[in-house]
Amino acid sequence: MRLSEPALAKLNLALHVRRRRADGYHDLETLFAFCTDGDMLHVETSERLGMAIEGPFAPGLSAGSDNLVWRAAELLAQAADVEARAAITLDKRLPIASGIGGGSADAAAALRLLTRFWKIDPGHAAAVAPRLGADVPACLLSMTTRGTGVGEQLEVIDVGSLSGTAVLLVNPRIPLSTPQVFAVWDGMDRGPLADWREGRNDLQQPAISLVPEIGEVLQWLEEQPGAAIARMSGSGATCFALFDSEADRTRAAFACPEKWWNLATFLR
Ligand code: C5P
Repeated sequence: MRLSEPALAKLNLALHVRRRRADGYHDLETLFAFCTDGDMLHVETSERLGMAIEGPFAPGLSAGSDNLVWRAAELLAQAADVEARAAITLDKRLPIASGIGGGSADAAAALRLLTRFWKIDPGHAAAVAPRLGADVPACLLSMTTRGTGVGEQLEVIDVGSLSGTAVLLVNPRIPLSTPQVFAVWDGMDRGPLADWREGRNDLQQPAISLVPEIGEVLQWLEEQPGAAIARMSGSGATCFALFDSEADRTRAAFACPEKWWNLATFLR
């Protein structure tokens, strides 16, 4: 038996950081949205837990027990009281440590995939998700949601007109560590998230201070004809622009400098 499950790229359409907490995490308000493309996971029958990684961003990723997909499989098996038997293949198409889910989306896809493969109660995946990372519950749903707390308290919202919007993701091919970006946030609360269009990503300036090329990516995106909103996602370095039309988005994708990674996709 072979089953597959997509790990859709996550975007933070806006991300307001409100305060640093005593446990080192940050309370935030964010609007999560998902793209129609991302990584892909496959699972096949096996006597034990195994993992392989293929695809353009496989090099540099470990396929061992320190991989979030592996940890997801172990925690889920434990929670459901089943043997962790599965041969998982991760097709890694999204850049690593790039603010668009990556590890979190892969872990969440592993939870959905193994829930089907092991025929277990979906409640176990929901229970295990927050233990794998702040963004994993949102990625488990992979729906447009408003996130509060550290991003794990979710409210599904209908931003009807967003679905099907043409979007271009651009990454300067420089990985960024999430804790490092939060660590250089200036601690200033710039207010709650109301209308996401009028909102911001409070991690954008901290990320630019670490990787100035993010500023160039954003400027380039803003200059593209038909680009309505250009912003960084998560803790970076991937930036996105939402376009008025698919044609404008596709034109921008062709014009994107070779030195940067890009993905032409749609909001789900
Ligand atoms: O939960 P996750 O492992 O994805 O978070 C990675 C790091 O990002 C945390 O260790 C923390 O430093 C930072 N973080 C944060 N506040 C959040 C989410 C993540 O400070 N709301």
